[in-house]
Amino acid sequence: MGEQTQTLDLVSIRNDFPILNQKIGKHPLIYFDNGATTQKPLSVIQSIENYYKTFNANIHRGAHFLADKGTTAFEGSREKLKNFINAETAEQVIFTKGTTESFNIVASGLAKSYLKAGDEILITGMEHHANIVPWQMACETSGAILKVIPVLENGELDMESAEKLLSEKTKVLSFVYVSNSLGTINPAKELIQKAQKLGALTMLDCAQAVGHFAVDVQDLGADFIAFSGHKMFGPTGIGILYGKKNQLENLPPFQGGGEMIKEVTFEKTTYNELPFKFEAGTPNIADGIALGTAVDYIQSLDRQAVEAHELELLQLATNIIENKAGLRIIGTATHKSSVVSFVSDHAHPSDLGTLLDQYGIAVRTGHHCCQPLMRRFEIPGTVRISLSFYNTKEELNAFSGHLDKVLGMLS
Ligand code: ALA
Repeated sequence: MGEQTQTLDLVSIRNDFPILNQKIGKHPLIYFDNGATTQKPLSVIQSIENYYKTFNANIHRGAHFLADKGTTAFEGSREKLKNFINAETAEQVIFTKGTTESFNIVASGLAKSYLKAGDEILITGMEHHANIVPWQMACETSGAILKVIPVLENGELDMESAEKLLSEKTKVLSFVYVSNSLGTINPAKELIQKAQKLGALTMLDCAQAVGHFAVDVQDLGADFIAFSGHKMFGPTGIGILYGKKNQLENLPPFQGGGEMIKEVTFEKTTYNELPFKFEAGTPNIADGIALGTAVDYIQSLDRQAVEAHELELLQLATNIIENKAGLRIIGTATHKSSVVSFVSDHAHPSDLGTLLDQYGIAVRTGHHCCQPLMRRFEIPGTVRISLSFYNTKEELNAFSGHLDKVLGMLS
């Protein structure tokens, strides 16, 4: 492990993730499914335990010690997330269930308050269903029309078509920063600027970005940004919606109930200020606090070394797949995150996945919640290796050997 980078201590890093140190049957676990969810460091697990063991109480309303401690920890976590993404203020950082809920808040809100019949919503051909279906629902309510930027054979966006599709009719451009199934890193800032020049609102899916490199919301300039905690070493069931302040103020609330109100009478209700307008009901307190701990963990690492290591892993994984007869990589963009998706001439992705599992190797197979993208490549799905900083070259080399055996069985 030592020779991989000068500055990442992989032995120590892997010790932070207790789950990695186990066998599946007689094989050491090789966890290559980080695109689906990343593993959690001990500090995040302990944060959840500590909340329930020592200060579980409802927040924002209780007049007692535990409630105050919980409120301080939860709002402290919001502050950490604000700094993590370089948001202007903490009130622009809304806790949600995850990326999917963040999209639903924005799409349903804009359908009620902003979109009209004939308006166009522009997405791309590589979107996750979470950035397709909420907009289709918004189109049904508002009469807006969904348009799609095509994907080139190498998995990059067709920027010429994007130029043509963007027009004064475009009211929303919503797209993914890093493709979960191809690994493509899209030219986010460039596209956001083009759309904003035409007066469109922009939303960026950062779910597969935040666990790999720094995301600066002010630099990117999108009106809304979504991501999930569980893909950045935090818990499931918690995520973030960031928005520009005026856009969040203009957006109607998603759910009604406690916390999101200022005053309720039977005749009329007035809504609370940001961020609480979008946080109806008791929030996911333990996981919200633990997401702040995940931020602390990420920030304790040398992020440049993380990026360099993940790039090395990407190059090795690409070489391994490229050099095996009958395998083809889907997604060969110039700018890629540490994801390698591939298909075989001889075997179905799910058979490959099932056999790899017999060697303790966890990969994701199937359409990766991107059915239209799979249709575009005329494939049923792929086998996807998605790597994180705690993965090693040794794991990739072991995977390569096991993949040979699996391919031999299926040929
Ligand atoms: N969106 C997650 C993935 O890509 C679940 O696997």
